[in-house]
Amino acid sequence: MPQIIVEGGQTLRGTVGVLGAKNAVLKEMAATLLAPGRHRLTNVPDILDVALMSEVLAHVGCHVDRRDHELHIVVPEELEPEAPLHLVRQMRASIVVLGPLLARCGIARVAQPGGDDLGARPIDFHLDGLERMGASFELVHGELIGTVSDRLIGAEVELPFPSVGATENLLFAAVLAKGNTTIVNAAREPEIRDLVRQLRGMGADISGEGTAIIHVRGVDELRPADHRVVPDRLEAGTYAIAGAITAGDVTVTGCIPDDLRMELRKLEEAGVGVERGDGWLRVIGPERPRAVDFATLPFPGFHTDMHPQMVALLSIAEGTSVITENIYDARFRYIGELRRMGADITTEWQHAVVRGVERLSGCPVLAHDIRAGAAVVLAGLRAEGTTVVDEIHHIDRGYEAFVEKLASLGADIRRTG
Ligand code: UD1
Repeated sequence: MPQIIVEGGQTLRGTVGVLGAKNAVLKEMAATLLAPGRHRLTNVPDILDVALMSEVLAHVGCHVDRRDHELHIVVPEELEPEAPLHLVRQMRASIVVLGPLLARCGIARVAQPGGDDLGARPIDFHLDGLERMGASFELVHGELIGTVSDRLIGAEVELPFPSVGATENLLFAAVLAKGNTTIVNAAREPEIRDLVRQLRGMGADISGEGTAIIHVRGVDELRPADHRVVPDRLEAGTYAIAGAITAGDVTVTGCIPDDLRMELRKLEEAGVGVERGDGWLRVIGPERPRAVDFATLPFPGFHTDMHPQMVALLSIAEGTSVITENIYDARFRYIGELRRMGADITTEWQHAVVRGVERLSGCPVLAHDIRAGAAVVLAGLRAEGTTVVDEIHHIDRGYEAFVEKLASLGADIRRTG
């Protein structure tokens, strides 16, 4: 099995560019299903999850062609409204085709996703919202079968929690519904704003994105569009922490620093020097950071997908940090790996207490999920000796050329297998 091998102790310096956001492009690929014809997405990262979503689109009848960092997607008039278990199991985000398939076909058969590496992850908000818009669901032999008798109907839907995925599925349903839809307590993430930009380019009538209340006026049909994917704030934040954890000086280009406001603020509180401008940010790491507390929350709060990387940094801080994870039950699994590297971290329910240590020591570790994988590699950059990371397919799901980019900044890192 392939592994990543890191020899710790190098100071990272230089400039690294980021590509489009994984968590935007996957939904934007699903959005193309709403309009037959030829769509083009640019600034698309070459990551495993994009390949998996391409398989989902091919399964429903699309032709997907990748050219460098572009995707050309040809959506047919007639779709096969099905996302089978082997695809949904590999990538839970495939559930986002539910809304487009219901809107276009009046029926959707999607394998019930179940949990994943981050815990139970139910989809009840998606289903309740779509039911309010006239869809009915039944679970038959593990497959969710959604049907709409005539056309989806606009409704007011209030989400119990500002779920990113539920907001997206409801947007997809609403843009082609009859009448007006209001999504109350909608997710405000930058990736939602970007998805709305794409949908608007396709002819959708939406307002309020980026706030907690989104209004959609349904239209009869949409047209294909070209769309440039918003930069990946998580990729940018990960390289920023790579600079910080090695007491280095790293500039990240192609990013939107404003989309990382809370995370950069916490880095500054930790004593990391942060400069930012239009499309770039620069991070200068101290010899040892200071402890800081943070709690993960929906945007504009601290992103749960930056939590493990930030804890890797705080594991070598002076002082004790308290972290509260509010989004996922199983996010803390990476902590066992950091502990093996010498970190002093205890957990209680959704809290972690990180007592900073002076040094980490390299050892064999596992990448339990995408961000857990990033966190152990970052810890390995700072650790004494060799860190060997297994299960790196998780890292490939979300980072293009992770090893090459870190090596270009001066890391002693390689991939085997
Ligand atoms: C997306 C991101 C993921 C990120 C998360 C939160 C993608 C592909 N994934 O996931 O990387 O960590 O946003 O920013 O974009 N919930 C329910 N019922 C539902 C839906 C959600 O209880 O029907 C709960 C979830 O279990 C979780 C919380 O709500 O505890 C947030 O989930 P959600 O915002 O929906 O995350 P995803 O869209 O799955």
